[in-house]
Amino acid sequence: MTEIYFDNSATTKLDSQVLKSMLTTMETYYGNPSSLHDLGNQANKLLQSARQQIADLFACQAKEIIFTSGGTESNNFALKGTAMEKGNFGRHIISSQVEHPSVRRSLEHLQRQGFDVTYLPVNKQGLVSADDLRAALRDDTILVSIMAVNNEVGAIQPIAEIGEVLNDYPSIHYHVDGVQSLGKFTDILIHPRVDLFSLSAHKFNGPRGVGILYKQANRKLSPLLDGGGQEGQLRSSTENLAGIVAMAKAMRLTMENASQENANHKQFQEKIRAYMSKNSDFKIFSAPNQAPHVFCFALRGVRGEVMVHALENEGIYASTTSACSSRATDQASSTLKAMGVAGDWASYACRLSFGSDNTMEEIDYFLQVMDKLVAKFAKIQ
Ligand SMILES: Cc1ncc(COP(=O)(O)O)c(C=O)c1O
Repeated sequence: MTEIYFDNSATTKLDSQVLKSMLTTMETYYGNPSSLHDLGNQANKLLQSARQQIADLFACQAKEIIFTSGGTESNNFALKGTAMEKGNFGRHIISSQVEHPSVRRSLEHLQRQGFDVTYLPVNKQGLVSADDLRAALRDDTILVSIMAVNNEVGAIQPIAEIGEVLNDYPSIHYHVDGVQSLGKFTDILIHPRVDLFSLSAHKFNGPRGVGILYKQANRKLSPLLDGGGQEGQLRSSTENLAGIVAMAKAMRLTMENASQENANHKQFQEKIRAYMSKNSDFKIFSAPNQAPHVFCFALRGVRGEVMVHALENEGIYASTTSACSSRATDQASSTLKAMGVAGDWASYACRLSFGSDNTMEEIDYFLQVMDKLVAKFAKIQ
């Protein structure tokens, strides 16, 4: 039975070496890192060594790495933690119209608390402009939050350019949702001006339920979780040691394999683009030269969910625009809407997202299936 997984932006398969270190950690280092006895000390040593390994990959200090439960928590913490900490100095936040719901919903929450949010528009490729950002800055702006790589179409935002603009505004917190960006840039943080950066282990062959918020040492955040004072008093709760150790390993492997993997994904996209450009019934929403692992397209008249199930019948797992919105069938993708894609075309959108295991043979198979589906849907219409 064919099983081709093209839904890596939703989640990735756990790497087998990562799983092994997770199991070893659970079996051997079961002590609580906060306990005073030797089992606690051993667990704490392992925790701090995973933190140091991750800090080395980030090229930052170990104390700047805060472990969380994933991308959603990291984003909530960056946004709400900044708002609570700096709300007395200003109540204006700048973000974009194409953020992940964990950012968008956090911002809506803050708007209900009286914060004012400017949502920057995007162009047809899904990109914000650093000039628009500069124009939106105000005396009371406390936070700028922009994602590095869009999860629906793969647009790479001008994080470094925005960083240059924000060099002139040193008091503003600069948060980047980097959940889809690990391995796509040589420097994880992309630009030294970035103060807060979110990652999630299950997007890079690590386990679910564990993530990172990088926080530049001099920036202050109010904690969302109060309790035992773990993570430097910033994120209470007993640490998910096995998840953290596994995440450190998954991060290292991802960074080591990144350039080869990106080159492969680029070739996959090129082949699919060449195929689809020959038939005007296809539309491609992912601009060329954006993130190589995300490819969003549509076939005229075929709703995204119909395409997803037709592909599934052939053993190919894809998604509509994002896993989070997949089940909300009546909600058009807000990213495609912001890019100016007409409603019916947006409803035809289907996303392929590549991971470390995919091969060119799988792409060839996908294109054969597409031939079949194009003929099949043409008969129905
Ligand atoms: C860009 C982006 N940010 C945040 C998240 C949320 O991450 P998590 O599933 O770890 O909460 C996702 C997950 O799809 C994402 O793609």
